[in-house]
Amino acid sequence: MDADGDPTRAADVDPAAVLADGGRPDWYRDAVVYSLDVKTFQDSDGDGWGDFRGLIDRLDYLEELGVDCLWIRPFYPSPLRDNGYDVADYRGVDDRVGSLDAFDALVEELDERGIRLITDLVLNHTSTEHEWFQRAREDPESKYHDYYLWTSHVEQAYNTSNIFPEYEDGVWSYDEVADKHYFHQFYNHQPDLNVANPDVQEELFSIAEFWLERGVDGFRIDAAHPMVLPKGHNAHRLDDPQWLFRELKRRARAVKDDAVLLAEADDEPDRLDFYFAGGEGFDALFNFVGNSHVTYGVGVGDTWPLYRMFEQIPDAQPNGHVWWANFLRNHDEWNLLKLPHEALEHAREEFREGHGDGRDSWIFGRGHRLRLADLYDGDHDRIAMAHSLLLSLPGTPILFSGDEIGMHADLDLPERQAVRTPMRWDGDEPNAGFSTAAPEELVLPVDGTGWPGVYQADAAGQRGVEGSLFERVADATAARAASPEVARGDCSIVHVDPKEVWAHRFDHDGTTLLAVHNFADEPREVVADVDVAPDAVERVLGASDYDLVDDGVRVTLGGCDYLWLRGERR
Ligand code: NOJ
Repeated sequence: MDADGDPTRAADVDPAAVLADGGRPDWYRDAVVYSLDVKTFQDSDGDGWGDFRGLIDRLDYLEELGVDCLWIRPFYPSPLRDNGYDVADYRGVDDRVGSLDAFDALVEELDERGIRLITDLVLNHTSTEHEWFQRAREDPESKYHDYYLWTSHVEQAYNTSNIFPEYEDGVWSYDEVADKHYFHQFYNHQPDLNVANPDVQEELFSIAEFWLERGVDGFRIDAAHPMVLPKGHNAHRLDDPQWLFRELKRRARAVKDDAVLLAEADDEPDRLDFYFAGGEGFDALFNFVGNSHVTYGVGVGDTWPLYRMFEQIPDAQPNGHVWWANFLRNHDEWNLLKLPHEALEHAREEFREGHGDGRDSWIFGRGHRLRLADLYDGDHDRIAMAHSLLLSLPGTPILFSGDEIGMHADLDLPERQAVRTPMRWDGDEPNAGFSTAAPEELVLPVDGTGWPGVYQADAAGQRGVEGSLFERVADATAARAASPEVARGDCSIVHVDPKEVWAHRFDHDGTTLLAVHNFADEPREVVADVDVAPDAVERVLGASDYDLVDDGVRVTLGGCDYLWLRGERR
């Protein structure tokens, strides 16, 4: 990305190289990804749990939305004390959501529709209920003992803060069967794996192979940053931490030559390049810097956070190895640590209350357990504009299930469960169409019963309804699909006045794609300095007026409006 507004660097990009990554098409760069949890998406058998069959039944909806790839969160057997990120068996399917056969049926159905599938791989830790941990604690001589990190002298052991500071004092917990403490960076029921142990490494690689052979197209690698942090009694670091990621990619690509590895690595901006390992490591990284800055900027109606975001993250041009997975919200807290301190403090107060009823949504000392609709006061215009912006940013956009219809958080639920309630399909049906089970049998309560009006947003009330949030998000995904410039072009900021309006452009193959977003509630007019042939300008997305003037394109935007235009460069 080019923060100085100079769009010239695309000139030496070889289009063939752009389309290939070591000979493999980098399909993920053109994809719109949709993140969902099978157990809260659609229940097909009335037991109160979403399942693979239910998801298959809802694929038409996802196609309508313009989704090219699903990222499904953990569905493995698990005690679910961290929503499935506490895996008890890496090669199975939790029987409440289906079976391996049902998983295979999903893969087949997705294949027919040309939709890709990414699953979560949690390689940093297991559940304490995983057989490896059970055998490790029972027998210090077993090979499984060294799958984890133990100490008999906890007072002298390396200590650091836990990632869930509200719930855990530190990173060591006592296990009475082993009569030792074990190391865990997350909850105490999630012992860290000793990723320096070659046997563990082999296990992890072969788990990836197992799922690739079953048809997945890649993985979201959970907690990639904690994987390579110092661990255990002596704060051991891997000699060559990048090797782990390089080897994972090598093994994955040997099974499927376009398998994609997407890292959840919420590291400092100047350390992010490490995870790409010069093109031999992760294919893409979640853009946590972008997430905090974009969602905050749109929320407060100011564009300075976007300027800062473009300055902070490493360059991402399509002929390079750096690539971002952009998102507005995810299934965790909205983590604000990447904002400057004052903005974090401001965001902490500004967005503190969920439904305005005084309940505090701040968690882990770093973020809000709120959905986009809570942050933007249920304003569908602002949510739609934020999605248009997301879909126009360089990188792969990841939609968070339910945000496309403006679902709200349920702060009655503990911790991050607040943002993970079942999909609201149809407010006129029991459990909003998610399940026919009795409400007390649902995996999580369906939100909205206590909240009038906009809080009961559902899919049925928006599908096919012109101007609805769902349709506007679908229009934006269609615009993205029709704009190869975003994934392939050279991005630069277009400086416009006033500061509530953000504009950026992509230059690609003789065309310029201009995207303009008004963060203000009131109309704004800007002139974007782009030099395009007057008779060859086409509207790609949005209904705002525009005309060509001497010094560029003048755009008249309504409150929270947006416009994408394509022109031929002069
Ligand atoms: C990141 C996941 O997104 C989060 O939900 C989980 O709690 C931690 N990793 C631990 O696996």
